[in-house]
Amino acid sequence: PKPNLAPTPPMGWNSWNKFKCDVSEKLIREQADAMAASGMKDAGYQYIVIDDCWQKSRDADGNIQADPERFPSGIKALADYVHSKGLKFGLYSDAGSLTCGGRPGSAGHEFQDARQYAKWGVDYLKYDWCHTGTRNAEAAYTIMAKALRESGRDIVLSICEWGTAQPERWAPKLGHLWRTTGDIYDAWEGKKDWSMGMTNILDLQAERESVAGPNAWADPDMLEIGNGNMTTTEYESHFSLWAMLAAPLIAGNDMSRMDADTLRILTNKDVIAVDQDALGKPGRRALKEGDLEVWVRPLQGGEYAAVLFNRGRTPADMKLNWDRLGLPGNQKADVKDLWSKKVAKGVSGSYGARVAPHGVVMVRVKPAP
Ligand code: DGJ
Repeated sequence: PKPNLAPTPPMGWNSWNKFKCDVSEKLIREQADAMAASGMKDAGYQYIVIDDCWQKSRDADGNIQADPERFPSGIKALADYVHSKGLKFGLYSDAGSLTCGGRPGSAGHEFQDARQYAKWGVDYLKYDWCHTGTRNAEAAYTIMAKALRESGRDIVLSICEWGTAQPERWAPKLGHLWRTTGDIYDAWEGKKDWSMGMTNILDLQAERESVAGPNAWADPDMLEIGNGNMTTTEYESHFSLWAMLAAPLIAGNDMSRMDADTLRILTNKDVIAVDQDALGKPGRRALKEGDLEVWVRPLQGGEYAAVLFNRGRTPADMKLNWDRLGLPGNQKADVKDLWSKKVAKGVSGSYGARVAPHGVVMVRVKPAP
């Protein structure tokens, strides 16, 4: 069986959203330093994952080689460095002949590559789906899952198939997380090729029945917080909604140059606690009326998280009705606003709040005993 490596959604950082193929050992060390020193590590972020383009070629025996110009000290030394910071180290490969970036993929080399990752000290593998031809996705991911299990090291498997081959049917038993959509890009909304803005991803995710839970998380792609093309309010919405989805929280910004808002959002302890809730039950969209949405998520201990989400261009007075949570109207509860940190005690029936344009009010509801 799959090792118990992700009882709650993985938290970390990945190079792709901000740096694309511009990766190097210098960059990765800087990001590890920043994760350890900035407060990100203290907030629970753990994995440093190099995405595509770290690879160059295979040697005569078929062993995968890092790009020697960008990683002159080699992957083992880099993994050791990341581990020395008290963090975990991740790599990327692809189930096809080539990665999306045209580097060697793992097709036909799965066991050899998994053994190599284990020797290097890899803790996490993101496994992509470009150049796979007629390969069957379930079969391809089954092979890599087996190869990792037999590698002698505990390695998280992040399945990156984009939701095209009904991964909810087979990915939960193979990987610890699986992508449900095409790529996110740093925008409130929009579509280009197979990538899309934050709210487009959210809509795709909202329409799916979630089968996610401990060690098997639906992955609506990585975070864009801090990359500069959305407003602070929009990034707060992005983070809140990803937490409601029980999404992996994989930062995708430059952690070595974070402004105060970026760090404040990414390290909001109350929002992270919702994402990481031990019950492991993803939230859902309970109401959609035009631009206004109510999202709810059950938490351990009989508590709830809720998000009032205003997609519109003007402020909206919104309400969380207790019946959306399945609570009787006369139930008294303490309600904490997870961004303003204000607590309202003994609230019954509903909780009302004014929600900024493109913003959220996110609360934690604790029913009185
Ligand atoms: C497609 C994936 O969905 C992205 O997250 C990223 O890994 C790129 N491939 C890399 O080429």
